[in-house]
Amino acid sequence: MSYNLLKGKKGIIFGALDDKSIAWRTALRCHEEGAQIVLSNAPVALRMGEINKLAEQVNAPVIGADVVNMDDLKGLFEKSMEHFGGKVDFVLHSIGMSINVRKGRSYTDLDYGFHQKSLDISASSLHRVLKTAWDLDAINEWGSVVALSYIAAQRVFPDYSEMADAKALLESIARSFGYHYGVRNKVRINTISQSPTKTTAGSGVKGFDDFTSYAEKMSPLGNASSDDCAAYIVTMFSDLTRMVTMQNLFHDGGFSYTGVSQGVIENFAKGIQ
Ligand SMILES: NC(=O)c1ccc[n+]([C@@H]2O[C@H](COP(=O)([O-])OP(=O)(O)OC[C@H]3O[C@@H](n4cnc5c(N)ncnc54)[C@H](O)[C@@H]3O)[C@@H](O)[C@H]2O)c1
Repeated sequence: MSYNLLKGKKGIIFGALDDKSIAWRTALRCHEEGAQIVLSNAPVALRMGEINKLAEQVNAPVIGADVVNMDDLKGLFEKSMEHFGGKVDFVLHSIGMSINVRKGRSYTDLDYGFHQKSLDISASSLHRVLKTAWDLDAINEWGSVVALSYIAAQRVFPDYSEMADAKALLESIARSFGYHYGVRNKVRINTISQSPTKTTAGSGVKGFDDFTSYAEKMSPLGNASSDDCAAYIVTMFSDLTRMVTMQNLFHDGGFSYTGVSQGVIENFAKGIQ
């Protein structure tokens, strides 16, 4: 069901790789809610070609940009403004990549070159996107930027490894840039801390399926799906949340504030019998 929450709004969505991606689900939902969209992903991801199916569905151009390349980002924002005939109202940063996890390096044995690259792609890239938009004055007043995070920024989940560092930095950038962009242009910047979700990036984390079942049992409402996340992101892009900025918003069915659940205790007791 559509509420026309984004009627007349224009935005850039980074990170739709395939139909499981949170960005993909969000693009569909933004389109349904009346938004015009530009889709972006890294040139290597565009070569897979999947994104063209989404582009057709939501009637959006696809503009490639490696999120660690400032020239690419400048080109993306300039072309997007040309396409829309004006500034954008929202941006979704749905990007993550851990080189050490990919290469099987544990947290106590990080390759620092890979670590730098992971932090740049997964976290500093939010600063790069915001700085590009800031310099071009590309976001309308009361515009909204959302980036996706995970609770490993606050609490230890050992297999999440260096991505925990990346998410802590991402959330800090959202707060700090949120201050400056709020003062100058009333642009708001938030992170949404999502439940474990079966996507390409999510499944890269060791023990992902077992952990997802654990989170499902721990959360009073169960895990939030990517479609639930898309709906929440739409509210954050809408005018209904105008005074929310610099926050990390948990979207996890209550996982973050649950110490232990009856279901987890019962499973644990069964296991030790
Ligand atoms: N899946 C989960 O369990 C989960 C939970 C919480 C938060 N998140 C976060 O959600 C976001 C989206 O991930 P997802 O789960 O939808 O997985 P996904 O693999 O579908 O999306 C990750 C995207 O990052 C893009 N990307 C990687 N390097 C890039 C670069 N250099 N330039 C531009 N784009 C690049 C990929 O092409 C891909 O589209 C990530 O920030 C992830 O950490 C995911």
